[in-house]
Parts: sequence; C-alpha cells; structure tokens
Amino acid sequence: MRKAYWDRPKARTKAKLEMLRYYLGAWFEILANATNADGKHRFDELAYLDGFCGRGEYADGQDGSPLIAVRFANSVAAKRSDLTIHVILVDEIKKNIAHLNTLDPIKKPHPNVKIYAIHGSFDDTVLGVFDRLSVPRNAPTFSFVDPNGIIRSPEYTFSKLIRNQSSELFINFMEGYVNRFIEHQRDDIREAFISAIGPEPAERVLAATDRIAAISQEYMQMLRSYGRYVRNFQMRNEKNVRDNAFFFCGNSRLGFMKIKEAMWKIDPENGREFSAYAFAQLQVQDQLFKPEPYLHDLKSEVLECFAEGKVVTGRELKDWADFKSERFLYKHLRYVLEELVADEAIAYRAPASATKKRRKNTWPDDGLFNFPREAQLRAK
Ligand SMILES: C[S@@+](CC[C@H](N)C(=O)[O-])C[C@H]1O[C@@H](n2cnc3c(N)ncnc32)[C@H](O)[C@@H]1O
Repeated sequence: MRKAYWDRPKARTKAKLEMLRYYLGAWFEILANATNADGKHRFDELAYLDGFCGRGEYADGQDGSPLIAVRFANSVAAKRSDLTIHVILVDEIKKNIAHLNTLDPIKKPHPNVKIYAIHGSFDDTVLGVFDRLSVPRNAPTFSFVDPNGIIRSPEYTFSKLIRNQSSELFINFMEGYVNRFIEHQRDDIREAFISAIGPEPAERVLAATDRIAAISQEYMQMLRSYGRYVRNFQMRNEKNVRDNAFFFCGNSRLGFMKIKEAMWKIDPENGREFSAYAFAQLQVQDQLFKPEPYLHDLKSEVLECFAEGKVVTGRELKDWADFKSERFLYKHLRYVLEELVADEAIAYRAPASATKKRRKNTWPDDGLFNFPREAQLRAK
C-alpha cells in the first residue's frame, strides 16, 4: 500500500469509512441488545473480523476500519458486562500490525473485548480462524474484506466466514480489474480475474456491453449462495470511472435495512454510488440545494411488484420496502404512496378503527392499498 494512502486519504476512503461507521454502530448496538422471547439476551459473544485491516489510523486523524470497530466494541462492552466481543485484525504488513498495537483503544480495550492483531495473509489466516479463537458457532460475525487488489477463489474463504445465519460479509471488490484485463492481456491478470469470479461468469462479463454492470451482477449472484440479502454500492474515481464497489451479504432482514440506510447516508439522492469526481465538483460549487432522494424508480418498482389487482396492508408495504426492495426504504415509500394515491394510481382505504384524519405521508399498518392490474396501469 502506497504511503500516500495513509497520509492523504481520498474522498472515496472517507466515504467507505463513513458507510462502515454507520453500519457497525447499528450492528454492535442491535446484536448486543437483541433478546429472545423470554427476554434474555440472544447472544453472549460477537465477532468482528477485519481481513485487510491496515494501520488503524490515517495521517489526518481519521480512524481506520479497525479503530472504528474497536471503539464501538469498547463502548458496547462497557454497557453489558456479560458480553464478550472478539475483534480479529489481519494484515500482511508487520509494520501495520505494530502500529495498531500502539493505538490506545486497541492497546487498552475493555476487559471483555478480546483483540487478536495478527500479522499474516488473509487467505492463510482466516480459514478456521473463528474456531481457532473459540468463537461460539452461533455468535454473529461481521467480516470486512477490504483488499487493495482482488480476492482470488473467494469460494474458499467466504464460505468459511459465513458460518451461521447471523454472519455477514462486507467486501470491497475491484471491478475495474476487468478493464485492466482487457487492456493488458497479461497471464497473471487474466488468472486473477478468472479466479475472482469463476470461468463461466468471466466469459459472460467479457461478452457484455457494460462489463462493469455485468461483473457487479455476477458478483451479487455468487454472493447469493452465501446470504439471502445482497446489496452493492458503486464507487467512481476522480475521473468518474467505476472502479470498485462494496458488496454486503448476509441473512438478516434488519442488517439489510441498516446497510441500505448506510448507503443512503453516503448517496442521499440515489443510495447507490459515490463519485470522487462529483464530490470534488460539489466542493467548488456553492451548494444551494440539499440533495433530495430521487424516487422515480421506487414508483415503478412498487407498481410493478404489486400490479396484480392486489389489496395490500400498510404493514406489508412497509416490510416490502425495508426488507425486499433492493435499494429503497419505507422512509422513501411513504412519500411515493402519497403521490400514487393523489394521482389515483392506487386506491387507499383507511382502517375502520381510524378516528382521526391521517397525517400526510404517514400510513397506518392496517390501512388498505388497492393496486390496479398491470393492464389497467398501462391504460392510465
Ligand atoms: C485498503 S487497505 C485497508 C484499509 C483499512 N481496511 C481501512 O479501511 O482503514 C488494505 C490493507 O490490506 C493489507 N493487505 C494486502 N494484501 C493482504 C493480504 N493478502 N492479506 C492481509 N492483508 C493484506 C495491506 O497491507 C493494507 O494495509
């Protein structure tokens, strides 16, 4: 990793860390406080793994990923005395591990936060690491995979990192590698590219008109074999070229909702990408308007999804938006519903129990929405 990476963190690095900070804040709090039907805590141990952890801090004072995680771990452990948190930090550069060990939150963690700062390569270290460190089989795990190249043969490592229904992966994948492959035609690049996504998907990507979109789709498809909920977030570089993307993979509905929220935090208009180029442009312009979510796609998505002449409750729509819609959340849908009802594209019936007038953009769980059939919709 070049020295400049740590000395002058780029806008993309900051956006990545912001997204991670938002998600991990929710992850630690939710899992530490999750309870079973009997009111007892659901989990007594949690594990955070950072497979390419780096040195822990940037020269401008910004926390790196391990420090972000350890600060949350220390704070959550201080609030619950019977919770053990394992923090596994791996980097192949010895100096980075040595630097991590000089940082106060890592040097002096809460007694129930067990930090393992390991000098080693990701591939060699992570296989079986949870078992070796006696992390219980049912403990929720969050693994951050943030290499500066691409992960070869991910099937070996990812399948081990997703070890139960509460395991999640967050991966930085260098999609731009496909262009390097096209430009250079070198054997080593070819071999890395093919092993990152598999030979057949590689063929399909090379034949696609939009190779970056195709590689994203292939990567999402591959991740679906490990987790039901998969979502990506595109990064564009200083020239506005799509370079890398972050991929989330897990089995928790709530986790999926929280990662979408994290993505909307970074991209308040579309919740799907960060452009270092656009960011730089904004710095030189006066920003007169606060970015607003662009919800046109959500309108078509919800109409398409329910266009069966179906009657759906407010609660069902809420669940659909937060847990099924790939990109949007209910906090977006509630505005779209208002427009659709006003335009008479869908009909709304208040529940019989409603006594007061409904506040704009708020919908009771048991309100009923009548969606027209597709043909009726087209006729409008
Ligand atoms: C992108 S940086 C990580 C940044 C860090 N996750 C953060 O957000 O603050 C990638 C790190 O991976 C390390 N690295 C590269 N190849 C590795 C490998 N095969 N195994 C483990 N670490 C590796 C590098 O030394 C570098 O510190």
